[in-house]
Amino acid sequence: MTFDLEQTDRLLQTTRAVRKRLDLDRPVERSVVLDCLRLAIQAPSGGNSQPWRWIVIDDQPTKDALAGLYREAYAPYIASRKAELAAQGGNADHPIAQSSDYLAEHLEEVPVMVIPCLLGRVTADDSPGHVAGFFGSVMPAVWSFMLALRSRGLGSAFTTLHLEREKEAAALLGVPDTVTQLALLPVAYTKGDDFRPADRKPVEDVTYWNGWRQRG
Ligand SMILES: Cc1cc2nc3c(=O)[nH]c(=O)nc-3n(C[C@H](O)[C@H](O)[C@H](O)COP(=O)(O)O)c2cc1C
Repeated sequence: MTFDLEQTDRLLQTTRAVRKRLDLDRPVERSVVLDCLRLAIQAPSGGNSQPWRWIVIDDQPTKDALAGLYREAYAPYIASRKAELAAQGGNADHPIAQSSDYLAEHLEEVPVMVIPCLLGRVTADDSPGHVAGFFGSVMPAVWSFMLALRSRGLGSAFTTLHLEREKEAAALLGVPDTVTQLALLPVAYTKGDDFRPADRKPVEDVTYWNGWRQRG
């Protein structure tokens, strides 16, 4: 069986960080979230350990509290980011900043939040291989989840800022201190689905053959 490359390539090219185009008024069924997670957990993990756990939040008071924690971290982050951009002569009101502001302001309104977690913690003594294996055992699944959402008319954005308040979020959700939260994914249907391919550096500039910085 061959894949429809036009469709699969479009899915891979247009799964973007969706913020302003999240439909905050349309509920998201738990069954859709489960369908997407069922696909997500087909992803690989080190030794097939499947260390992921997924906290799905559709309860308003909990979303309110998480959005509050996110905003506490977002305010200083975006202020310094905008100052940095302005100092470099750039546009501090860049579309990504506007879109990020929008998400921070409306986060509690998203129908569902998903927090991917990993069983375990890393420590400063862990080897690079262990750290890579640890985080690498959930990242593919998270991306598959985002692709599965997109294929069904939903969208998300990978966010990590609430982790500046990781302990508070863990206390709120009852996450044990042996567990690592990886991200907070707002999940909603999207308004329209005409997302454009991402603007990225050319692949030739970021690909080396047979050694660091070798162009072959
Ligand atoms: C590790 C990681 C952390 C991120 N953290 C945040 C975040 O806290 N808040 C946010 O609005 N976007 C966050 N993003 C989304 C990026 O800003 C976004 O993916 C990037 O600007 C590229 O946009 P695109 O995915 O639409 O191409 C994060 C993305 C990654 C991969």
